[in-house]
Amino acid sequence: MKVAVIGQGYVGLTISAFAGEHFDVIGLDNNIRIVEQLNLGISHIEGVQSSWLKSSISAGRYRATSDGHDIADAGLVVIAVPTPLTKDRQPDLAFIDEACRTIGENVHKPVLVINESTSFPGTLRNYIKPAIEKYSITKVEHMYAISPERVDPGRSDFNQKNTPRLFAGLTPEASRMTKEFYSKFCDKLLEVSSPEVAEAAKLFENTFRQVNIALVNEFAQIAHSLGISVYETLDAANTKPYGFMKFTPSAGVGGHCIPVDPTYLAVVAEEHGAPATFIRRANEVNLQMSEYIVRRVAADNGGNLQGKNVLVVGVAYKPNVADVRETAAELVIHHLRSQGAVVSWHDEVVGKWKSESSAPLEGADIAVVVTKHDSVDEKRIMDSAPYVFDTTGKVKGAKGL
Ligand SMILES: NC(=O)c1ccc[n+]([C@@H]2O[C@H](COP(=O)([O-])OP(=O)(O)OC[C@H]3O[C@@H](n4cnc5c(N)ncnc54)[C@H](O)[C@@H]3O)[C@@H](O)[C@H]2O)c1
Repeated sequence: MKVAVIGQGYVGLTISAFAGEHFDVIGLDNNIRIVEQLNLGISHIEGVQSSWLKSSISAGRYRATSDGHDIADAGLVVIAVPTPLTKDRQPDLAFIDEACRTIGENVHKPVLVINESTSFPGTLRNYIKPAIEKYSITKVEHMYAISPERVDPGRSDFNQKNTPRLFAGLTPEASRMTKEFYSKFCDKLLEVSSPEVAEAAKLFENTFRQVNIALVNEFAQIAHSLGISVYETLDAANTKPYGFMKFTPSAGVGGHCIPVDPTYLAVVAEEHGAPATFIRRANEVNLQMSEYIVRRVAADNGGNLQGKNVLVVGVAYKPNVADVRETAAELVIHHLRSQGAVVSWHDEVVGKWKSESSAPLEGADIAVVVTKHDSVDEKRIMDSAPYVFDTTGKVKGAKGL
Protein backbone atom coordinates (compact mmCIF):
# COMPACT_ATOMS: atom_id res chain seq x y z
CA MET A 1 0.00 0.00 0.00
CA LYS A 2 1.12 3.54 -0.73
CA VAL A 3 0.73 6.05 2.09
CA ALA A 4 0.38 9.76 1.29
CA VAL A 5 1.40 12.19 4.00
CA ILE A 6 0.17 15.76 3.48
CA GLY A 7 2.64 18.16 5.10
CA GLN A 8 6.33 17.23 5.34
CA GLY A 9 7.22 19.25 8.44
CA TYR A 10 8.06 18.09 11.96
CA VAL A 11 5.09 15.74 12.20
CA GLY A 12 4.64 14.71 8.58
CA LEU A 13 8.27 13.89 7.79
CA THR A 14 8.66 12.03 11.08
CA ILE A 15 5.60 9.89 10.37
CA SER A 16 6.82 9.38 6.79
CA ALA A 17 10.09 7.97 8.12
CA PHE A 18 8.40 5.52 10.49
CA ALA A 19 5.67 4.51 8.01
CA GLY A 20 8.36 4.30 5.33
CA GLU A 21 9.83 1.22 7.00
CA HIS A 22 6.64 -0.66 6.04
CA PHE A 23 4.94 1.21 3.20
CA ASP A 24 5.80 3.23 0.12
CA VAL A 25 5.40 6.88 1.06
CA ILE A 26 4.55 9.91 -1.02
CA GLY A 27 5.22 13.09 0.94
CA LEU A 28 3.14 16.03 -0.26
CA ASP A 29 4.14 19.55 0.70
CA ASN A 30 3.17 22.82 -0.92
CA ASN A 31 6.54 24.36 -0.06
CA ILE A 32 8.54 23.69 -3.23
CA ARG A 33 11.88 24.42 -1.56
CA ILE A 34 11.24 21.73 1.08
CA VAL A 35 10.16 19.26 -1.64
CA GLU A 36 13.32 19.91 -3.67
CA GLN A 37 15.54 19.45 -0.61
CA LEU A 38 13.78 16.27 0.43
CA ASN A 39 14.14 14.80 -3.05
CA LEU A 40 17.87 15.54 -2.83
CA GLY A 41 17.89 13.44 0.35
CA ILE A 42 18.33 16.38 2.73
CA SER A 43 16.23 16.25 5.90
CA HIS A 44 15.20 19.53 7.54
CA ILE A 45 13.81 17.87 10.66
CA GLU A 46 15.78 16.80 13.75
CA GLY A 47 15.29 13.09 14.29
CA VAL A 48 14.79 12.24 10.59
CA GLN A 49 18.12 11.19 9.12
CA SER A 50 19.15 12.30 5.64
CA SER A 51 20.59 8.80 5.23
CA TRP A 52 17.05 7.36 5.62
CA LEU A 53 15.78 9.77 2.96
CA LYS A 54 18.60 8.95 0.55
CA SER A 55 18.22 5.18 0.85
CA SER A 56 14.39 5.32 0.65
CA ILE A 57 14.54 7.56 -2.43
CA SER A 58 17.02 5.30 -4.21
CA ALA A 59 14.93 2.21 -3.32
CA GLY A 60 11.89 3.99 -4.84
CA ARG A 61 10.08 3.87 -1.48
CA TYR A 62 9.86 7.60 -0.77
CA ARG A 63 9.28 10.64 -2.91
CA ALA A 64 8.34 14.21 -2.07
CA THR A 65 6.01 16.18 -4.31
CA SER A 66 4.02 19.38 -4.43
CA ASP A 67 1.59 18.02 -7.02
CA GLY A 68 -1.73 16.86 -5.55
CA HIS A 69 -2.28 14.42 -8.44
CA ASP A 70 0.54 12.31 -7.02
CA ILE A 71 -1.57 11.14 -4.07
CA ALA A 72 -4.29 9.72 -6.37
CA ASP A 73 -3.15 6.09 -5.97
CA ALA A 74 -2.57 6.19 -2.19
CA GLY A 75 -4.50 3.74 -0.02
CA LEU A 76 -4.18 5.85 3.11
CA VAL A 77 -3.78 9.59 3.55
CA VAL A 78 -2.35 11.23 6.66
CA ILE A 79 -3.00 14.94 7.26
CA ALA A 80 -0.10 16.67 9.08
CA VAL A 81 -0.47 20.37 8.28
CA PRO A 82 -0.21 23.38 10.62
CA THR A 83 -3.12 24.46 12.79
CA PRO A 84 -2.08 27.93 13.95
CA LEU A 85 -4.07 30.84 15.34
CA THR A 86 -5.33 33.73 13.25
CA LYS A 87 -4.15 37.29 14.01
CA ASP A 88 -7.08 37.67 16.42
CA ARG A 89 -6.08 34.38 18.11
CA GLN A 90 -8.86 32.19 16.73
CA PRO A 91 -8.31 28.60 15.44
CA ASP A 92 -7.09 28.79 11.86
CA LEU A 93 -8.15 25.74 9.84
CA ALA A 94 -7.10 27.20 6.48
CA PHE A 95 -4.26 24.65 6.04
CA ILE A 96 -6.60 21.78 6.96
CA ASP A 97 -9.12 23.11 4.45
CA GLU A 98 -6.46 23.18 1.73
CA ALA A 99 -5.40 19.61 2.57
CA CYS A 100 -9.08 18.53 2.36
CA ARG A 101 -9.33 20.18 -1.04
CA THR A 102 -6.26 18.25 -2.23
CA ILE A 103 -7.79 14.96 -1.07
CA GLY A 104 -11.26 15.77 -2.42
CA GLU A 105 -9.98 16.80 -5.83
CA ASN A 106 -7.44 14.00 -6.31
CA VAL A 107 -8.45 10.83 -4.48
CA HIS A 108 -11.25 9.09 -6.33
CA LYS A 109 -11.29 5.65 -4.69
CA PRO A 110 -12.25 5.08 -1.04
CA VAL A 111 -9.27 5.50 1.32
CA LEU A 112 -8.65 5.92 5.01
CA VAL A 113 -7.98 9.56 5.92
CA ILE A 114 -6.22 10.01 9.27
CA ASN A 115 -5.84 13.44 10.79
CA GLU A 116 -2.71 13.99 12.90
CA SER A 117 -2.96 17.77 13.05
CA THR A 118 -4.00 19.14 16.42
CA SER A 119 -7.43 20.73 16.53
CA PHE A 120 -10.55 21.12 18.66
CA PRO A 121 -13.03 18.30 19.33
CA GLY A 122 -15.36 17.87 16.38
CA THR A 123 -12.80 18.79 13.71
CA LEU A 124 -12.72 15.35 12.09
CA ARG A 125 -16.50 14.82 12.12
CA ASN A 126 -17.78 18.33 11.48
CA TYR A 127 -15.01 19.89 9.45
CA ILE A 128 -12.65 17.46 7.71
CA LYS A 129 -15.23 14.93 6.48
CA PRO A 130 -17.67 17.56 5.15
CA ALA A 131 -14.83 19.56 3.57
CA ILE A 132 -13.43 16.55 1.68
CA GLU A 133 -16.94 15.61 0.58
CA LYS A 134 -17.54 19.17 -0.60
CA TYR A 135 -14.37 19.13 -2.75
CA SER A 136 -14.84 15.57 -4.02
CA ILE A 137 -15.83 15.59 -7.67
CA THR A 138 -16.64 11.87 -7.69
CA LYS A 139 -18.48 11.94 -4.33
CA VAL A 140 -16.49 8.92 -3.19
CA GLU A 141 -17.04 7.88 0.45
CA HIS A 142 -13.80 7.75 2.42
CA MET A 143 -13.17 6.47 5.95
CA TYR A 144 -12.01 8.87 8.62
CA ALA A 145 -9.97 8.62 11.81
CA ILE A 146 -7.96 10.77 14.16
CA SER A 147 -4.69 9.92 15.85
CA PRO A 148 -3.26 13.04 17.46
CA GLU A 149 0.48 13.39 17.14
CA ARG A 150 2.56 13.43 20.32
CA VAL A 151 6.04 13.66 18.78
CA ASP A 152 8.52 15.90 20.63
CA PRO A 153 11.12 16.88 18.02
CA GLY A 154 14.71 16.51 19.15
CA ARG A 155 13.78 14.09 21.93
CA SER A 156 15.62 10.77 21.90
CA ASP A 157 13.98 8.81 24.76
CA PHE A 158 10.44 8.92 23.36
CA ASN A 159 9.63 8.48 19.69
CA GLN A 160 6.90 7.12 17.41
CA LYS A 161 7.64 3.58 18.54
CA ASN A 162 7.48 3.87 22.31
CA THR A 163 5.04 6.78 22.74
CA PRO A 164 1.52 5.35 23.21
CA ARG A 165 -0.83 6.59 20.55
CA LEU A 166 -4.53 7.45 20.93
CA PHE A 167 -6.88 6.84 18.05
CA ALA A 168 -10.55 6.69 17.09
CA GLY A 169 -12.36 6.26 13.80
CA LEU A 170 -15.69 7.64 12.71
CA THR A 171 -16.67 4.02 11.98
CA PRO A 172 -15.49 0.67 13.42
CA GLU A 173 -13.85 -0.13 10.07
CA ALA A 174 -11.90 3.14 10.14
CA SER A 175 -10.75 2.33 13.70
CA ARG A 176 -9.69 -1.18 12.69
CA MET A 177 -7.66 0.07 9.73
CA THR A 178 -6.08 2.85 11.78
CA LYS A 179 -4.96 0.33 14.40
CA GLU A 180 -3.52 -1.91 11.70
CA PHE A 181 -1.56 1.00 10.19
CA TYR A 182 0.02 2.35 13.36
CA SER A 183 0.65 -1.05 14.94
CA LYS A 184 3.32 -1.57 12.27
CA PHE A 185 5.55 1.00 13.96
CA CYS A 186 4.00 1.94 17.31
CA ASP A 187 4.15 -0.41 20.33
CA LYS A 188 1.05 0.76 22.17
CA LEU A 189 -2.23 1.89 20.66
CA LEU A 190 -5.16 3.03 22.75
CA GLU A 191 -8.57 3.30 21.15
CA VAL A 192 -10.94 5.83 22.69
CA SER A 193 -14.69 5.90 22.27
CA SER A 194 -14.90 8.79 19.80
CA PRO A 195 -12.69 11.08 17.69
CA GLU A 196 -13.81 13.94 19.94
CA VAL A 197 -12.22 12.26 23.00
CA ALA A 198 -8.92 11.81 21.12
CA GLU A 199 -8.99 15.41 19.91
CA ALA A 200 -9.80 16.75 23.39
CA ALA A 201 -7.15 14.56 25.07
CA LYS A 202 -4.45 16.04 22.85
CA LEU A 203 -5.55 19.58 23.68
CA PHE A 204 -5.76 18.78 27.39
CA GLU A 205 -2.24 17.30 27.43
CA ASN A 206 -0.82 20.57 26.13
CA THR A 207 -3.12 22.68 28.30
CA PHE A 208 -1.82 20.78 31.35
CA ARG A 209 1.71 21.83 30.40
CA GLN A 210 0.73 25.42 29.64
CA VAL A 211 -1.07 25.90 32.98
CA ASN A 212 1.73 24.29 35.00
CA ILE A 213 4.39 26.34 33.22
CA ALA A 214 2.40 29.48 33.99
CA LEU A 215 2.07 28.42 37.63
CA VAL A 216 5.80 27.90 38.02
CA ASN A 217 6.50 31.16 36.19
CA GLU A 218 4.25 32.98 38.65
CA PHE A 219 5.93 31.13 41.51
CA ALA A 220 9.36 32.24 40.26
CA GLN A 221 8.20 35.82 40.73
CA ILE A 222 6.82 35.05 44.19
CA ALA A 223 10.07 33.30 45.22
CA HIS A 224 12.16 36.25 44.04
CA SER A 225 10.00 38.71 45.96
CA LEU A 226 10.46 36.55 49.08
CA GLY A 227 14.23 36.41 48.55
CA ILE A 228 14.35 32.62 48.19
CA SER A 229 15.64 30.44 45.33
CA VAL A 230 12.88 29.17 43.08
CA TYR A 231 15.08 26.25 41.98
CA GLU A 232 15.96 25.13 45.50
CA THR A 233 12.29 25.39 46.48
CA LEU A 234 11.17 23.34 43.47
CA ASP A 235 13.82 20.69 44.18
CA ALA A 236 12.65 20.56 47.79
CA ALA A 237 8.99 20.14 46.74
CA ASN A 238 10.03 17.51 44.24
CA THR A 239 11.26 15.22 47.03
CA LYS A 240 7.58 14.37 47.68
CA PRO A 241 7.20 10.99 46.03
CA TYR A 242 3.58 11.48 44.95
CA GLY A 243 1.17 14.27 43.98
CA PHE A 244 3.83 16.65 42.64
CA MET A 245 5.32 17.09 39.19
CA LYS A 246 8.23 19.48 38.70
CA PHE A 247 8.03 22.18 36.04
CA THR A 248 10.74 24.81 35.70
CA PRO A 249 10.41 28.55 35.09
CA SER A 250 11.35 30.14 31.78
CA ALA A 251 11.07 33.26 29.65
CA GLY A 252 7.69 31.97 28.44
CA VAL A 253 6.48 29.15 26.24
CA GLY A 254 7.24 28.71 22.57
CA GLY A 255 6.78 26.24 19.78
CA HIS A 256 3.79 25.38 17.73
CA CYS A 257 1.91 23.57 20.47
CA ILE A 258 1.84 24.92 24.02
CA PRO A 259 1.16 28.61 23.20
CA VAL A 260 -1.43 27.64 20.57
CA ASP A 261 -3.33 24.44 21.35
CA PRO A 262 -4.85 25.54 24.70
CA THR A 263 -6.49 28.46 22.88
CA TYR A 264 -8.23 25.94 20.60
CA LEU A 265 -9.68 24.39 23.77
CA ALA A 266 -10.58 27.79 25.27
CA VAL A 267 -12.38 28.91 22.12
CA VAL A 268 -14.45 25.75 21.84
CA ALA A 269 -15.19 25.85 25.60
CA GLU A 270 -16.43 29.41 25.42
CA GLU A 271 -18.52 28.63 22.32
CA HIS A 272 -20.24 25.99 24.44
CA GLY A 273 -20.71 28.39 27.38
CA ALA A 274 -18.08 26.70 29.57
CA PRO A 275 -15.37 28.68 31.41
CA ALA A 276 -11.74 28.60 30.25
CA THR A 277 -10.35 30.92 32.91
CA PHE A 278 -7.21 28.93 33.79
CA ILE A 279 -6.28 28.62 30.13
CA ARG A 280 -6.73 32.33 29.42
CA ARG A 281 -4.85 33.40 32.57
CA ALA A 282 -2.01 30.90 32.00
CA ASN A 283 -1.51 32.32 28.54
CA GLU A 284 -1.29 35.86 29.97
CA VAL A 285 1.21 34.87 32.67
CA ASN A 286 3.46 33.11 30.16
CA LEU A 287 3.32 36.04 27.74
CA GLN A 288 4.16 38.49 30.56
CA MET A 289 7.31 36.60 31.63
CA SER A 290 9.43 38.31 28.97
CA GLU A 291 8.45 41.74 30.29
CA TYR A 292 9.16 40.65 33.88
CA ILE A 293 12.62 39.40 32.89
CA VAL A 294 13.50 42.64 31.09
CA ARG A 295 12.33 44.59 34.17
CA ARG A 296 14.63 42.48 36.37
CA VAL A 297 17.57 42.94 33.98
CA ALA A 298 17.00 46.72 33.88
CA ALA A 299 16.68 46.92 37.68
CA ASP A 300 20.04 45.14 38.10
CA ASN A 301 21.64 47.55 35.62
CA GLY A 302 20.87 50.94 37.11
CA GLY A 303 17.22 50.88 35.98
CA ASN A 304 18.11 51.84 32.42
CA LEU A 305 19.01 49.80 29.33
CA GLN A 306 19.34 52.78 26.97
CA GLY A 307 22.26 52.19 24.56
CA LYS A 308 23.42 49.01 26.34
CA ASN A 309 24.63 46.17 24.12
CA VAL A 310 22.47 43.22 25.05
CA LEU A 311 23.11 39.73 23.67
CA VAL A 312 20.19 37.30 23.81
CA VAL A 313 21.64 33.80 24.03
CA GLY A 314 19.47 31.12 22.42
CA VAL A 315 16.48 32.13 20.30
CA ALA A 316 15.08 28.68 19.47
CA TYR A 317 11.97 27.95 21.47
CA LYS A 318 13.65 25.03 23.23
CA PRO A 319 17.13 23.53 23.52
CA ASN A 320 18.81 21.61 20.69
CA VAL A 321 16.31 22.43 17.93
CA ALA A 322 16.34 25.17 15.27
CA ASP A 323 12.60 25.84 15.65
CA VAL A 324 11.80 29.50 16.42
CA ARG A 325 8.03 29.35 16.15
CA GLU A 326 6.38 31.43 18.89
CA THR A 327 9.74 31.62 20.67
CA ALA A 328 9.79 33.62 23.92
CA ALA A 329 13.03 35.20 22.65
CA GLU A 330 10.98 37.35 20.28
CA LEU A 331 9.14 39.10 23.13
CA VAL A 332 12.31 39.37 25.23
CA ILE A 333 14.06 41.12 22.30
CA HIS A 334 11.01 43.32 21.73
CA HIS A 335 10.94 44.51 25.37
CA LEU A 336 14.72 45.03 25.46
CA ARG A 337 14.56 47.15 22.29
CA SER A 338 11.62 49.16 23.58
CA GLN A 339 13.85 50.05 26.59
CA GLY A 340 16.47 51.42 24.20
CA ALA A 341 18.88 48.47 24.34
CA VAL A 342 20.95 47.59 21.27
CA VAL A 343 20.08 43.92 20.89
CA SER A 344 21.80 41.11 18.99
CA TRP A 345 21.36 37.39 19.47
CA HIS A 346 23.54 34.31 19.48
CA ASP A 347 22.19 30.94 18.36
CA GLU A 348 24.31 28.80 16.06
CA VAL A 349 21.65 26.08 15.94
CA VAL A 350 19.20 28.60 14.44
CA GLY A 351 21.82 30.51 12.40
CA LYS A 352 19.55 32.98 10.62
CA TRP A 353 16.27 34.42 11.87
CA LYS A 354 14.16 37.40 10.75
CA SER A 355 16.88 38.46 8.27
CA GLU A 356 19.45 38.62 11.08
CA SER A 357 22.38 36.26 11.69
CA SER A 358 23.66 34.74 14.88
CA ALA A 359 26.14 37.17 16.53
CA PRO A 360 29.37 36.05 18.21
CA LEU A 361 29.07 34.97 21.83
CA GLU A 362 31.23 37.78 23.20
CA GLY A 363 31.64 41.46 23.82
CA ALA A 364 28.21 42.39 25.22
CA ASP A 365 27.35 44.61 28.21
CA ILE A 366 24.56 42.26 29.20
CA ALA A 367 23.72 38.68 28.18
CA VAL A 368 20.23 37.24 28.65
CA VAL A 369 20.02 33.47 28.25
CA VAL A 370 16.62 32.45 26.88
CA THR A 371 17.48 28.97 25.55
CA LYS A 372 20.57 26.96 26.44
CA HIS A 373 21.54 24.45 23.74
CA ASP A 374 23.78 21.61 24.95
CA SER A 375 26.42 22.71 22.43
CA VAL A 376 26.85 26.14 24.04
CA ASP A 377 29.52 26.21 26.70
CA GLU A 378 28.50 27.71 30.07
CA LYS A 379 31.87 29.35 30.56
CA ARG A 380 31.66 31.05 27.16
CA ILE A 381 28.24 32.43 28.13
CA MET A 382 29.65 33.75 31.42
CA ASP A 383 32.60 35.33 29.58
CA SER A 384 30.35 36.98 26.96
CA ALA A 385 29.29 39.88 29.23
CA PRO A 386 30.03 41.25 32.72
CA TYR A 387 26.35 40.74 33.62
CA VAL A 388 24.54 37.52 32.64
CA PHE A 389 20.86 36.86 33.38
CA ASP A 390 19.87 33.23 32.91
CA THR A 391 16.18 32.35 32.48
CA THR A 392 16.93 28.62 32.14
CA GLY A 393 18.52 27.80 35.49
CA LYS A 394 21.36 26.04 33.67
CA VAL A 395 24.18 28.61 33.74
CA LYS A 396 26.06 28.49 37.04
CA GLY A 397 27.13 31.83 38.44
CA ALA A 398 24.60 33.86 36.42
CA LYS A 399 21.85 36.01 37.88
CA GLY A 400 18.56 34.30 37.30
CA LEU A 401 14.91 33.75 38.04
N1 LIG B 1 5.86 20.02 15.88
C1 LIG B 1 5.43 19.32 16.89
O1 LIG B 1 6.18 19.05 17.82
C2 LIG B 1 4.01 18.80 16.95
C3 LIG B 1 3.70 17.80 17.88
C4 LIG B 1 2.42 17.31 17.92
C5 LIG B 1 1.45 17.81 17.07
N2 LIG B 1 1.77 18.80 16.18
C6 LIG B 1 0.72 19.27 15.29
O2 LIG B 1 0.94 18.68 14.00
C7 LIG B 1 0.52 19.59 12.97
C8 LIG B 1 1.68 19.85 12.03
O3 LIG B 1 2.70 20.49 12.77
P1 LIG B 1 4.21 20.54 12.27
O4 LIG B 1 5.00 20.93 13.46
O5 LIG B 1 4.55 19.30 11.57
O6 LIG B 1 4.15 21.75 11.25
P2 LIG B 1 5.30 22.18 10.21
O7 LIG B 1 5.09 23.62 9.94
O8 LIG B 1 6.64 21.71 10.68
O9 LIG B 1 4.96 21.35 8.90
C9 LIG B 1 3.80 21.52 8.20
C10 LIG B 1 4.11 21.36 6.72
O10 LIG B 1 2.88 21.36 6.03
C11 LIG B 1 3.06 22.05 4.81
N3 LIG B 1 1.73 22.43 4.33
C12 LIG B 1 0.90 23.37 4.80
N4 LIG B 1 -0.27 23.33 4.15
C13 LIG B 1 -0.17 22.34 3.22
C14 LIG B 1 -1.05 21.81 2.28
N5 LIG B 1 -2.30 22.27 2.12
N6 LIG B 1 -0.62 20.82 1.48
C15 LIG B 1 0.64 20.31 1.62
N7 LIG B 1 1.51 20.77 2.54
C16 LIG B 1 1.10 21.76 3.35
C17 LIG B 1 3.98 23.19 5.14
O11 LIG B 1 4.66 23.67 4.01
C18 LIG B 1 4.93 22.53 6.15
O12 LIG B 1 6.09 22.00 5.53
C19 LIG B 1 -0.02 20.82 13.68
O13 LIG B 1 -1.39 20.67 13.87
C20 LIG B 1 0.69 20.75 15.03
O14 LIG B 1 -0.03 21.42 16.05
C21 LIG B 1 3.03 19.29 16.09
